[in-house]
Amino acid sequence: MRVIIQPDTQGVARWAARYIAARINGKNGGRFVIGLPTGSTPVETYKELIKLHKAGKVSFANVVTFNMDEYAGLPADHPQSYRTFMWRNFFDHIDINPQNVNLLDGNAPDAETECTSYEEKIAAAGGIDLFLGGIGSDGHVAFNEPFSSMTSRTRVKSLTAETIAANSRFFGGDVAKVPKLALTVGVGTVMDAREVVILATGHGKARALHHVIEGAYSHVWTASALQTHPRGMIVCDDAATYELRVGTARYFLDIEKDNLDPATIAL
Ligand code: PGA
Repeated sequence: MRVIIQPDTQGVARWAARYIAARINGKNGGRFVIGLPTGSTPVETYKELIKLHKAGKVSFANVVTFNMDEYAGLPADHPQSYRTFMWRNFFDHIDINPQNVNLLDGNAPDAETECTSYEEKIAAAGGIDLFLGGIGSDGHVAFNEPFSSMTSRTRVKSLTAETIAANSRFFGGDVAKVPKLALTVGVGTVMDAREVVILATGHGKARALHHVIEGAYSHVWTASALQTHPRGMIVCDDAATYELRVGTARYFLDIEKDNLDPATIAL
């Protein structure tokens, strides 16, 4: 696993955005399939990608997207639906073909069929080139809460009290308004991507990063599945490293020292 430590949130966003843009450009106009997260963490990265697009450094014309998850039962146009989030924070500002945007339908009459057909759509697109993700304070990746199977596929999941409490900030602080179920890609779905990049910022993620980077491969911290991925990477800020051993943080800072400046990623 690679761990890229940046001084702050802005550094994470700049680094990750340039990395993703370089990957898209590496296809020379060919199709690039990307898995995408919602949440607070990726917002700055989306802003940086929009900036790069507006500066003519990257086009999304041949990018196909698959979002990680969606709340069950929230109207699609609800301000907190992940569909609304993605259009408002990203898709409305880039040259993506709306037909290339894939989002789970949290109101599908048959959620199980919706999840199975999402997996089929990913396969039909040729699999995911790069899955971008965040991490929950409980170590979840997508909505794969603790004790999710490390080989799980897209399905309906119950959200933990910790996740519901964390996400209540988007619902006026009212936990009762947060949906209790979500449709989510599985850990196995994420790990099938050819590359996985997880973003983590702030002290609130420090404990999860400790377990994911230094702990055992374990369904208790589902993002630890990254340990077995051939191309797994965490891009985090200094605050998110506070629970790592000093030696671990120094190791990654040293081994990546020539790669830490976002400007080293050629576009
Ligand atoms: P956050 O969520 O970016 O809003 O902290 C991350 C997650 O729960 O995966």
